[in-house]
Amino acid sequence: DKRVVVTGGASGIGAALLELLGDLGAPHVTVIDRKPPAAAVDRFVEADLSSRAGVDAAAAAIEGPVDVLFNNAGVAGTQPAPVVFSVNYLAVRRLSERLAGRIPAGGAVVITSSMAGIGWQAHQDELGRLMAIGDWDEALTWLDTHPERAGDPYALSKECTQLYTLRAARAASRAGTRINSACPGATSTPLLGDFRLTMTDEIIDWSVRQGLGRPASPREVAQILAFLGSDAAGYLNGVNLPVDAGLQAALATGQT
Ligand code: NAI
Repeated sequence: DKRVVVTGGASGIGAALLELLGDLGAPHVTVIDRKPPAAAVDRFVEADLSSRAGVDAAAAAIEGPVDVLFNNAGVAGTQPAPVVFSVNYLAVRRLSERLAGRIPAGGAVVITSSMAGIGWQAHQDELGRLMAIGDWDEALTWLDTHPERAGDPYALSKECTQLYTLRAARAASRAGTRINSACPGATSTPLLGDFRLTMTDEIIDWSVRQGLGRPASPREVAQILAFLGSDAAGYLNGVNLPVDAGLQAALATGQT
């Protein structure tokens, strides 16, 4: 049986993912979240992923090998910048690094990034300097000295996860494992209400009109995450996969 860890399995996309994990072959499922999932899982680890101590406690609670780690928990920019940056990026990276040695060949890390991280290439040098800071608290201090980026912590955090996915791919392939992310556009979960507050209805509705004219369902995004974690994606590594019904394609080709 595969041993699967899902962060943020109590709601939205993560909860939809739990319904699909049977496709990975009757896995043993552990959910890490600050609240319990509705679905029956083998193990629930209650943890607050907004602090280093919370991430370390969660990592310590996971025993044995992990075949697939789904880093899915996330918060919107309605939360304070340090919380957004911590949950959406620092925790993703730290949990991945803490568990990397326990992912056997054939295993995978899957990250739920966002189309909001589309700007990573434009900021690659700056993000590289930020990501070179290994210490959690020091990385948060960077936010204080870069208010122009800290003002949109959600985009910053998702840019970091996308660059991290690319950077971590080489070590993953050397270990015979993989790391990829899915980059959803607007998705109908409780978080979408928060995005409407920070990004405005106008931007969200505009982004949806560039694709199929409706947000993704949590299941549509979860199906891509499950695929990225499955053996069917065994040759896919270091990819940030848009799951936005064509929004990024339209932006890239000036068709918006
Ligand atoms: P959601 O709010 O329905 O679920 C997020 C889950 O993460 C919840 O179960 C929550 O308890 C957990 N979580 C949040 N902060 C936590 C913390 N400090 N410690 C432990 N667990 C914590 O949101 P949704 O939409 O399902 O989000 C899942 C992922 O998808 C996030 O990474 C989000 O950024 C990403 N995403 C969502 C989009 C959307 O439109 N809903 C679009 C693009 C990306």
